[in-house]
Amino acid sequence: MAQSFDVQPVDASFGAVITGVRIPELDQPTWQALHDTWLKYALLIFPGQFLKKDEQVAFAKRFGALEFEMGAVSNVREDGTLRVEAEGDDVVKILKGNEGWHADSTFKPIAAKGAVFSAEVVPTIGGHTGWADMRAAYDALDDATRTRIAPLRAYHSLHYSQSRIGHRPKAGTEDYRRLGFAGDENVLRPLVKTHPDTGRKSLLIGRHAHDIPGLAPEESEALLQELIDFACRPPRVYHHDWRPGDVVIWDNRCLLHQATPFDMTQPRIMWHTRIAGDPVSEAAVG
Ligand SMILES: [Fe+2]
Repeated sequence: MAQSFDVQPVDASFGAVITGVRIPELDQPTWQALHDTWLKYALLIFPGQFLKKDEQVAFAKRFGALEFEMGAVSNVREDGTLRVEAEGDDVVKILKGNEGWHADSTFKPIAAKGAVFSAEVVPTIGGHTGWADMRAAYDALDDATRTRIAPLRAYHSLHYSQSRIGHRPKAGTEDYRRLGFAGDENVLRPLVKTHPDTGRKSLLIGRHAHDIPGLAPEESEALLQELIDFACRPPRVYHHDWRPGDVVIWDNRCLLHQATPFDMTQPRIMWHTRIAGDPVSEAAVG
């Protein structure tokens, strides 16, 4: 029998804070109940879990195979020094790029299923993470827009999204490969997707999407921006103000997310475990 845990919805169309449970101690029935809760809310927030790295990886693996186990999202180098915003190396430019709304790995042949994200060191101001509910956004569209976008697809590219903030990465470096620039195939994805587990339709947009085939470039850019502006506003957004030890898991198949700016003279260390998408539902169409 599943243990009980507390589910406190946040003030948005999605998202809930989960308390009364320790992630490393979830038995199978309780995990199953939690998984159902995740499908419903799309974002679960667990305050004060302080997971060890292997505990975070083990938790993520219960949701599926991993795209990668543990990526630092941080302005702290391995030697402990801070990356300087003004110098703008490839890592800083990715951190800045991630301030744009996006879903993870949509520019890869298989987009991500979701991610577990945890806070180790947080700055005193800023450095929040926002999510936006693309199911509720789709539901809120008028009929004319739904009809217009139903047959449309867009290319997804990290080179494209980073170039929009003036970032042209150095090819061939370790960061180039690790950050996802290598093998950017300019994949094609529909603007409307159906969730493989819930059957709900959602908008698939975000900063990596560009150049809808059949539309003029300006028309495509305007439509994609219009959809982001419409989708990513209350009641469909939630921004989390992190405390050390917080853990979240989000469903990348129906949410967008964004980083928010912070004072880069302060350290910020976050850990990202990415759950791989199922090729049946998350593969690109071209
Ligand atoms: Fe991301």
